[in-house]
Amino acid sequence: MIYAQILAGGKGTRMGNVPMPKQFLSLADKPILIHTIEKFVLESRFTAILVACPQDWLSHTQDLIKKYITDDRVQVVIGGAERNETLMNGIAYIHEHYGEHDDDIIVTHDAVRPFVTGRIINDNIEAALKHAAVDTVVAAIDTIVQGTSEEIETIPLRSTMFQGQTPQSFNIKTLVSSYNSLSNQQRATLSDACKIVLLAGHTIKEVRGENFNFKITTPYDLRVANALVERRG
Ligand code: CTP
Repeated sequence: MIYAQILAGGKGTRMGNVPMPKQFLSLADKPILIHTIEKFVLESRFTAILVACPQDWLSHTQDLIKKYITDDRVQVVIGGAERNETLMNGIAYIHEHYGEHDDDIIVTHDAVRPFVTGRIINDNIEAALKHAAVDTVVAAIDTIVQGTSEEIETIPLRSTMFQGQTPQSFNIKTLVSSYNSLSNQQRATLSDACKIVLLAGHTIKEVRGENFNFKITTPYDLRVANALVERRG
């Protein structure tokens, strides 16, 4: 079976002094999270579309979904302290409610990337049916330099540099066994889910993202996102 999980369990600290986690802030006429869910309900192959939110925002999230979404495949789960913990909570929910099957896949997506497209979601599904792990990437536009905030140590060849977006999609069984093979310290420091399977020795298939599939992280990003929605509308 094919599942989706929308990761909305974060606090959005880099958004600054706002009254709620950034995924609940308005983008044009409705919350960012709702824009993102709307992209996923268009895909009929998903058995369930999980939305993971912070514990304190559970009833708010349920109310929003009741107000804006009519698709009963959308179900709310509680997120974890770290992004990968949120992801694993969703998988535990799937195991509990739908069982475990070797070929089950999950398409995971940041709630704060509302400009994901049907093409990107479809490419993730197709790739995850054939490969253990899939990442959505765009070629780096700026030169990427590596080092500290004081000094550059290396300047990798730009043509080999990409920026990771989401969705990231996985064979669930491979993701769980990879996660179980990590130490607690590794789990706490990994912000990226693909790195879980990379550390466990698996290869990761790339799917082409889009520059407009950016992550709303700062107030500037939210202004850009609002401008994009207004131009489209
Ligand atoms: N996320 C999550 N569970 C967490 C942390 C993050 O589901 N424990 C989600 C966020 O809600 C977001 C996505 O992962 O949709 C991408 O993470 P990021 O942009 O880093 O979100 P935050 O952690 O909320 O932001 P910040 O780092 O600014 O606090």
